[in-house]
Amino acid sequence: MSPDADRMPSDAALGDRLLTLTVGPPAAGGTFVARHEGRVVFVRGTTPGETVTARLLEDPREKRDARFWRAEALDVLEAGVDRVPSVWEEAGVDGVGGAEWAHIALPAQRRIASEVLQELLRRAGVTSYPIEQVQVEPAPHDADGLAWRTRVRYAVDAEGRVGMRGWRSHAVRPVGEDPLSAQSIRELRLGEWTAPTGTEAIDAVAPSAGPASVVLIGRELDPDAVRIPETWGDADVAVRTARELVLLRGDGTVHERVGERMFTVGATGFWQSHRRAAELLSDVVETTLRAPHGGSAWDLYGGVGLFGAVAAEQVGPDGSVVTVEGNRRASQLAAENLEHLPQASTATADVTDWVRARRGGVDVVVLDPPRNGAGTELMGLLARAVRQRIVYVSCEPSTLARDLAAIEKQGWQIADLRAFDLFPHTHHIESVAVLERTAG
Ligand SMILES: C[S@@+](CC[C@H](N)C(=O)[O-])C[C@H]1O[C@@H](n2cnc3c(N)ncnc32)[C@H](O)[C@@H]1O
Repeated sequence: MSPDADRMPSDAALGDRLLTLTVGPPAAGGTFVARHEGRVVFVRGTTPGETVTARLLEDPREKRDARFWRAEALDVLEAGVDRVPSVWEEAGVDGVGGAEWAHIALPAQRRIASEVLQELLRRAGVTSYPIEQVQVEPAPHDADGLAWRTRVRYAVDAEGRVGMRGWRSHAVRPVGEDPLSAQSIRELRLGEWTAPTGTEAIDAVAPSAGPASVVLIGRELDPDAVRIPETWGDADVAVRTARELVLLRGDGTVHERVGERMFTVGATGFWQSHRRAAELLSDVVETTLRAPHGGSAWDLYGGVGLFGAVAAEQVGPDGSVVTVEGNRRASQLAAENLEHLPQASTATADVTDWVRARRGGVDVVVLDPPRNGAGTELMGLLARAVRQRIVYVSCEPSTLARDLAAIEKQGWQIADLRAFDLFPHTHHIESVAVLERTAG
C-alpha cells in the first residue's frame, strides 16, 4: 500500500473520475497545474485561477502510486479572467485535439506561453540571457489567430468520415468550421466529404502560390476509387499508398512565395505551417545570421532550402553554403530551389553525422531541427566548428532550452532570443536564438 493511501479519496469517489480542482500556473504541453490532496494534476481545457470539475484521464485506482495525474476540465465552476468563448466549438471536451487554448484570450495565450518558455529556460540552467525579457510576439498582421494553418492532416474513420483525432485519442471527431485552417483548405469542405474505403488520412495544403493540394493516404487505398468532388475546385490531388504516390491531378508538389523567392515543396513535405511563418522566419534569419560576404555557412535541417537561400544571398557568389537535409525528396527539391545560386550546394545526410565528418570550420550556421532538437552532441560539434555565429530556429522550447544550456557550457552565449506565436490557439511556440562566442 502506498504511504498516501489513507489520504486518498475512496474508490467509490474516484470511480467516476471526477474531481473539483482550483487551477494554478501553466505546465508544459498546454496543461495547467492543480493539486488534489497533495498530488499534482495536469489539467487540460482550463485557465490559471479558475475552479473546474475535471475528469481524470486514467483510472486513479490503478494509478495510486503515480507522481501525477492528468485530467480534462468538463465544467467551469468559477471562470478565470483569461477565459473567452472558444473560437472552435469542436475543440472542446471530447472534441478535436490541436486547438487546446481556443478558449483562452489571444493576448493571454501569449503571456502564458512566455511564462512556460521562461520557466523551461530557467530549469534548463540557461544563464547568459535575461530570461524574463523573452516574450512571445504575434506574427505580423495576425489579429485573431485564425485561418493560419496551411498544412492540415485530417483523420478518416472506418466509415470514411473525415475529421481530426481527439486529444490523446484515436477517435475521429467532426471538425465543424475548422477556423484555424487557411481559407482555401476550408473551402475544400473535407469535413462534409465521405472518403473512399481504405483512406486513413488526408493531407491538405494551402500554398501561397498556385492551387491547393489534397493527398489521400491509405496503405491499401485504390486510386481508381477516388471521385474528386466539385468543392475541391482546381486543387491538385494524389493518392499515397504503401507502395507509391499516384498523381491524379498535378505533379505532387506545391509552390511557395517568400518575398521575391519561390520554393517548390513536396505535397506532403515539410513547410512552415503558419501562413506568415516562412517570411517572418526568413526575415529574422536574414537580420541575425549576418553571413560574411565571401564566407561560408551551413543550413542544417534545411528542408527545401528556405534559409539556405537567405545565407547564399548573404555570402554572395564568392562564398559557399551547404543545405543539409535528411529527407531525400526535400533535399532534391532544395537543390532545384537553390539552382540559381551556384554558391549553394546540398547534402542528403543525417545532420549530426555530416557535421561530425567535417574537417574544417564554418563562419555561420542556421539550424532548424524537428521537435527533438539538435541534441548535445551536435551542439558540442558546432561549438567547436563555428567561427562567428549560430542562429537556432526551434519549434520546441524544451529541447531548445536543453541545447542552449549545453552550448553555454562550451564558451558560447545567447546574443538574442525571440519567440513567436506561429501556432495560435495551441500551446506551441516558435523561437529563434542567436548564439555568439563568449568574449575572452
Ligand atoms: C523543422 S523542419 C525545417 C526545414 C526548413 N529549415 C524550413 O524551415 O523549411 C526540420 C527538417 O529537418 C529534417 N530532419 C529531421 N531530422 C533530421 C536529421 N537527423 N538529419 C537531417 N535532417 C533531418 C526534416 O526532414 C525537416 O525537413
